[in-house]
Amino acid sequence: MKATIATLLAAAVMARAQVATTSEPALTQIAAAAATTKPESPISDVKGLAFDRFYQVWLENIDYEVAAADSNLQWLASQGILLTNYYAVTHPSEPNYCAAAGGDTFGMDNDHYHQVPANVSTVADLLDTKDISWGEYQEDIPYAGFQGFNYSNQETHAKDYVRKHNPLMLYDSVVKNDTRARQVKGFDAFFADLDDKKLPQWAFITPNMTNDAHDTNITFAAKWERSWMSTLLKNDYFMDNTVVLLTFDEDDTYHKTNRIFSILVGGAIPDHLKGTKDDTFYTHYSTIASVSANWGLPSLGRWDCGANILELVANKTGYVNYEVDMTNLRLNETYPGPMADGHYAKFSPVWPIPATEANCSAGHGILDIVKKTYAGLQASHNYTTPFPVDSKNDYNTNVTITRKPSNSTTTTSAAPSVHTTKSGAAVAATAPNMAMTGAMVALFAYLI
Ligand SMILES: *[C@@H]1O[C@H](CO)[C@@H](O)[C@H](O)[C@H]1NC(C)=O
Ligand SMILES: *[C@@H]1O[C@H](CO)[C@@H](O)[C@H](O)[C@H]1NC(C)=O
Ligand SMILES: *[C@@H]1O[C@H](CO)[C@@H](O)[C@H](O)[C@H]1NC(C)=O
Ligand SMILES: *[C@@H]1O[C@H](CO)[C@@H](O)[C@H](O)[C@H]1NC(C)=O
Ligand SMILES: *[C@@H]1O[C@H](CO)[C@@H](O)[C@H](O)[C@H]1NC(C)=O
Ligand SMILES: *[C@@H]1O[C@H](CO)[C@@H](O)[C@H](O)[C@H]1NC(C)=O
Ligand SMILES: *[C@@H]1O[C@H](CO)[C@@H](O)[C@H](O)[C@H]1NC(C)=O
Ligand SMILES: *[C@@H]1O[C@H](CO)[C@@H](O)[C@H](O)[C@H]1NC(C)=O
Ligand SMILES: *[C@@H]1O[C@H](CO)[C@@H](O)[C@H](O)[C@H]1NC(C)=O
Ligand SMILES: *[C@@H]1O[C@H](CO)[C@@H](O)[C@H](O)[C@H]1NC(C)=O
Ligand SMILES: *[C@@H]1O[C@H](CO)[C@@H](O)[C@H](O)[C@H]1NC(C)=O
Repeated sequence: MKATIATLLAAAVMARAQVATTSEPALTQIAAAAATTKPESPISDVKGLAFDRFYQVWLENIDYEVAAADSNLQWLASQGILLTNYYAVTHPSEPNYCAAAGGDTFGMDNDHYHQVPANVSTVADLLDTKDISWGEYQEDIPYAGFQGFNYSNQETHAKDYVRKHNPLMLYDSVVKNDTRARQVKGFDAFFADLDDKKLPQWAFITPNMTNDAHDTNITFAAKWERSWMSTLLKNDYFMDNTVVLLTFDEDDTYHKTNRIFSILVGGAIPDHLKGTKDDTFYTHYSTIASVSANWGLPSLGRWDCGANILELVANKTGYVNYEVDMTNLRLNETYPGPMADGHYAKFSPVWPIPATEANCSAGHGILDIVKKTYAGLQASHNYTTPFPVDSKNDYNTNVTITRKPSNSTTTTSAAPSVHTTKSGAAVAATAPNMAMTGAMVALFAYLI
């Protein structure tokens, strides 16, 4: 009997230590690890400028117009602010989840088993600078910190939990630390943490492949989301100064702009803004920048650096967001990098070097460990633009961005106000576009 327990424990340890392989642990190993692994639920109460809790719930692969036509999503939008100009950053799924945690896709153009090296920091490191608790809730992950590629429904064999939809799991800087890995837990832990009042201040929530529309459709997923959210909207503990971003990983039509239907709900949304729209240009990188600006955290020095900040927060810091002319912006593709396999991007073995010196939108410099790790190295890109640009490969170099001069009396250390600027190297040909007014940009956003 003792030997059996020892074997089971060894299997459990092995299952957890299994980081460097795409092979699936055996079901017996999963069961053993599930029996012994306890989720980690750190808590904190660090006040933010616009919210004290920031959660995201991502559904899958739906075009903006399709989502906008769904009555349950319309109802959710009526409970908060609809973001009409929010974009995913590439295709397919995994690089978008990757971007939301670490501020880059690293050229990823596929859904493979990737491990981002431990010298790449994530939003978790930003939050840790002020001991702001964080976690993830991944529906049907078999146990906290599970690193397998997928976990299927054991009765129907339908795909259920998938690692590619789990942002922090892709990063060795998170999963090589057992405590951090166990902050990535299941929906059972969400309801336990809710009951115990042990919810973290930052969380990423991924419903399973049925509920998130991946293997169903928007009607099914929106019904799920409304039902899940409406219970929480009535929960005072959950709602207290909370913002929940309800969005999608990407759109479904690859030649479109990748605009995705996104809603902010929660107790931190002022009543007079419920049922309103915000037309500011945002991307998945804006989630990191907004969290940094809200809690006074540094930047990763990647695409979060120049990302626009949710108006809810920008209004408090005085940061002036950019308006972006969508004509030549390609957020449906990505640029070469070490995680490309040639589907939509070229492979390049070079891991991008983040900025170590830059004025980022959040206004609190760059994370110390990033400055230390990449000291003296030239940043791979101009990370202060509000969307990814790769001038070597002529990616997003001909996009016009404008900025309304700020007449606000609030001042910050954020980037200086630029009235009109170009995102990349090729300055010559777009003079007419540079005169595009904010109103025209807004009108354009409605037309696409
Ligand atoms: C992962 O998915 C494959 C293919 O659908 C399936 O055969 C396998 O059983 C799944 N693994 C687990 C642990 O559910
Ligand atoms: C996804 O979760 C729901 C409950 O939220 C469950 O009914 C469904 O069977 C799950 N999907 C799979 C593939 O197991
Ligand atoms: C692992 O993560 C925990 C929680 O974030 C932290 O307290 C601890 O210092 C980390 N351990 C190592 C070895 O980095
Ligand atoms: C949406 O998905 C659900 C669940 O798979 C299915 O029952 C329903 O028929 C689908 N609706 C449409 C319009 O395809
Ligand atoms: C991205 O969108 C542009 C413009 O609509 C289109 O020309 C291009 O083919 C799309 N890229 C992919 C990979 O679909
Ligand atoms: C931000 O400030 C502008 C100008 O005062 C206002 O119109 C807008 O509603 C505010 N937005 C939010 C989300 O607070
Ligand atoms: C950041 O902004 C300050 C003040 O505007 C400026 O002096 C400094 O050169 C800027 N740093 C970089 C790296 O752009
Ligand atoms: C970061 O790690 C990658 C992969 O191990 C390595 O190729 C790269 O040189 C490292 N970067 C720095 C600045 O140490
Ligand atoms: C900024 O300008 C707008 C439009 O001209 C005006 O409505 C607003 O009152 C001004 N705000 C301040 C703080 O001067
Ligand atoms: C980087 O991008 C910002 C924003 O577009 C721009 O103001 C700045 O001039 C660019 N820097 C360089 C060195 O091209
Ligand atoms: C930049 O885009 C404009 C239209 O938006 C086009 O007329 C011009 O030729 C483009 N320039 C380059 C260098 O691609």
